[in-house]
Amino acid sequence: MAGKLTEMPAWQALAAHHRGCGGANGFNLSRLFAADPQRVQTFSARCGDVLLDFSKQLLNPNTLHLLLNLARDRDMANAITHLFSGAAVNVSENRPALHTALRAQTPVPLDGHDVTTDVRRERDRMRAFVETVRGEHKITDIIHIGIGGSYLGPAFAGDALLAYAEKPLRVHYLSTVDGGVLQQLLTRLDARATLVIVATKTFTTAETLVNARAVLGWLAAQLGGEQAALAQFAAITARPEQAVSFGIPRDRVFEVWDWVGGRYSMCSAMALPLALQVGMAPFDALLAGARAADEHFKTTEFGQNIPVLLALLDVWNANFHDAASRVVLPYLSGFARFPAYLQQLEMESLGKRVTRGGAPVDYDTGLVAWGESGTNGQHAFHQLLHQGTRLVPAEFIIACRARHDYPGFHDMLLANALAQAEALMLGNAASEPHRTYPGNRPSTLLVLPEADAFHLGFLIALYEHKVYAASVILDINAFDQWGVELGKQLAGRLLPELAPHAPVGPHDASTAALIHYIRTHGRS
Ligand code: F6P
Repeated sequence: MAGKLTEMPAWQALAAHHRGCGGANGFNLSRLFAADPQRVQTFSARCGDVLLDFSKQLLNPNTLHLLLNLARDRDMANAITHLFSGAAVNVSENRPALHTALRAQTPVPLDGHDVTTDVRRERDRMRAFVETVRGEHKITDIIHIGIGGSYLGPAFAGDALLAYAEKPLRVHYLSTVDGGVLQQLLTRLDARATLVIVATKTFTTAETLVNARAVLGWLAAQLGGEQAALAQFAAITARPEQAVSFGIPRDRVFEVWDWVGGRYSMCSAMALPLALQVGMAPFDALLAGARAADEHFKTTEFGQNIPVLLALLDVWNANFHDAASRVVLPYLSGFARFPAYLQQLEMESLGKRVTRGGAPVDYDTGLVAWGESGTNGQHAFHQLLHQGTRLVPAEFIIACRARHDYPGFHDMLLANALAQAEALMLGNAASEPHRTYPGNRPSTLLVLPEADAFHLGFLIALYEHKVYAASVILDINAFDQWGVELGKQLAGRLLPELAPHAPVGPHDASTAALIHYIRTHGRS
């Protein structure tokens, strides 16, 4: 599959096609729609009751044909097989990325061992724990301590599925070190009715351990000692022995594994706070939805394969339409945290500058992913989408129906999402320049029947696969994140230097001056 992307005939054909069409300005959506009454059929894909409409993207039938050729020439089919079969697709750490095994119903052997037996064991333990905690009615609040992939997925899904929960528990997430948030939270909670989950795959993440120790101190003070406090702790980790050394009872330590990346761990025991919050049945439905997306990715020809199409659109927009970012706009109830979740998934995975073989790339890799749930963005940043100088492709996610008692609200969301996509595409001529909308701004609509647990799982796995498909085309490793390490090391070294009289090590002049400024002004 490797070979330098920009030297591949399929890439060069795409570049020649782009030039031949007149470059980025050669794709006029109004003209393309006028010329082709079938455009919506040509540029849409279905998986069951999920629809992807990408007819408002800046491409013509030949572009799509060439993009699909690129996916084939990149050997996407084999790459997908490798992913599912447990090949070491994470080349820099020499390990597989077997998040699909977390929802598989057939054996997935890894080094001669079927990992789905481990997955089932942990899920059964999780189910028993969830049923006990929810059944006993002693716990009303959960503090979930974790960051990145050990936080964003369950936090987002918990909000999104609240409408589907029976007797939801309250979950409070502690991620960064925010003493103010911690203090406010602990003054509100009843220690006896609070369960604490420490979620960290590596059990080394500084923020998580600092928060865990602080909450342990609070609980111990409230309950009369650490022993009693630790009995109300649980952990999710790939280092169970570390959790036990912390003092967490082994029967409350739930395992994840090195073969699951943190940001891909949503279908593992990492979803414990979600299952405690909304119950095990919605989590089971989420797994079924993710499985449906796995099947779709594995078996659907690329022209109808939603993750492959989404990946190709990003590659096209980044490299041929000079897009630096893509805005993600879920017009869905409870999806406020979705952009943050997707940001980690996409930007830790695709924010790379060298190929899998270590060579610098000479093309653009991951787009900045950002967004907000609709209609908030309309009253904040859509101005730039409509009239700014940057091209920002938009990805709307909508559902035909919603689970609440205010149907008029949902229609209003839908009307706004469709109107935004239409306005971005058509624009509006006006006599005054400041009232003119240039239009021809691309967007995609992903349409779910409903954002219920099944379709939430489908969506999560869809984006996991989109990221992998993009990494295959771009020849980068979607499963490591070395770019986060340097800052952690420097922060560790810098922390003691903030103390009033501590020696300050060698730094650049700006950092050294800032350390001195903070030391002078930081302590009252
Ligand atoms: O620093 C980045 C990162 O390693 C993410 O990839 C990960 O999801 C997060 O930190 C949390 O890591 P852990 O689960 O090991 O605490």
